[in-house]
Amino acid sequence: MANSNEFPIQAVRQQFPALNRTYKGKPVIYFDGPGGSQVVRSSIDSIAQYMMNGGANLHGQFITSKETEAVIAEAKKAIADLFGASVDEVAFGANMTTLTFALSRALSRTWKKGDEIVVTEIDHRANVDPWLAIAEDLGLVVRWLRVDPEGLTLDLSDLNSIITEKTRLVAVGLASNGVGTINQVEQISRRARAMGALVYVDAVHATPHFSIQRDELGADLLLCSAYKFFGPHVGIAVIRSDIFEGIKPYKLQPAPEYIPDKLETGTQNHEGIAGIMPAIDFIAGFGQGATRAERLISGFSRIEEYENRLAEKIRTEMGTMTKIKLYQAKSAVRKTPTIAFEVEGISPVEVCRYMAEEHGIFVADGHFYATTLGDLTGVNPRGGWVRVGLAPYNSDEEVDLFLEALREITSRTKSC
Ligand SMILES: Cc1ncc(COP(=O)(O)O)c(C=O)c1O
Repeated sequence: MANSNEFPIQAVRQQFPALNRTYKGKPVIYFDGPGGSQVVRSSIDSIAQYMMNGGANLHGQFITSKETEAVIAEAKKAIADLFGASVDEVAFGANMTTLTFALSRALSRTWKKGDEIVVTEIDHRANVDPWLAIAEDLGLVVRWLRVDPEGLTLDLSDLNSIITEKTRLVAVGLASNGVGTINQVEQISRRARAMGALVYVDAVHATPHFSIQRDELGADLLLCSAYKFFGPHVGIAVIRSDIFEGIKPYKLQPAPEYIPDKLETGTQNHEGIAGIMPAIDFIAGFGQGATRAERLISGFSRIEEYENRLAEKIRTEMGTMTKIKLYQAKSAVRKTPTIAFEVEGISPVEVCRYMAEEHGIFVADGHFYATTLGDLTGVNPRGGWVRVGLAPYNSDEEVDLFLEALREITSRTKSC
């Protein structure tokens, strides 16, 4: 796979058993990657194998316990390679939202009334509401980085007055799960660092689409979820060790005091964790290099190029359709292959029902928890957006079928 320049789409598709599914006699087309990708076979096999071989809890003197510890260690190594971090900086949890609630409580133990935190208008609420809840509990001041509702990018013109010496933490998403905009996190983190504030990056939507180097980004804490990148439902926190050492999570008294275990409350999802390394190795399989970290970087550039080509085809074709309103940042703005739109005269839920029932095309509708952006763009009262989200297992043929179905649906609606 790694030696061919052409994207090996057929070989990729064979690795995803869910692509064999049909609905009403048609092959299913999964365009709902941002809600959760399909799972690569090697990950599924690894989960099944873990459970079939005999699972166990940690710290036992028997082989299944030792194997469980090894599985967790290799998953952490793979995640460390994914983000340019180290193994002791990686902790697991239920999902990004739950980890963020836990971390917001832990981090804020030293904050005082009047301290400030910064959130954004473009983010998924999972990186907003845990911070608002703590702000309410402690009397913190919440400052917002505004979004330009037309341009669909963060407005950083008053960054210096929003992030100041009073700021304790800046919570920002790397990419918008609603409209795909990739935010200028480096610029934000430079300012935050200069002011002594922590940078908390939600990389849930971004992780499957491009290489993320935690230190280049300037992220102190970076969160993601394996179910968005071809693996199981496991939440992941990557925390800079010097900061992690100082965090006091709410934990049981006898549980470990050391990093990263101290954040992992209760027994983890061992079988899910067994599925993480194969998902990361699937991405690395597209790349070249002596180490997995190198293969991940070059693998992602192939994925990005392939997905962007498909996404551009969709954006360009949709741009010619009169009854489609696209919600996309300007072409110069870097984006994930996530395309939000409305069809004039037909609600998002109806578009999605039609796509699923008539064509077996699974696209999602709603605000996708990016509710502030949904309010500001005015789509919430109309049922949000329709969102097409691509993954490396999507093909040109699927894109063509989707565009054809869209032409069909727009030709049925009356012009308003
Ligand atoms: C950008 C973004 N952040 C956070 C979340 C929440 O992640 P989790 O389901 O792991 O809590 C999602 C889920 O869709 C997301 O897309």
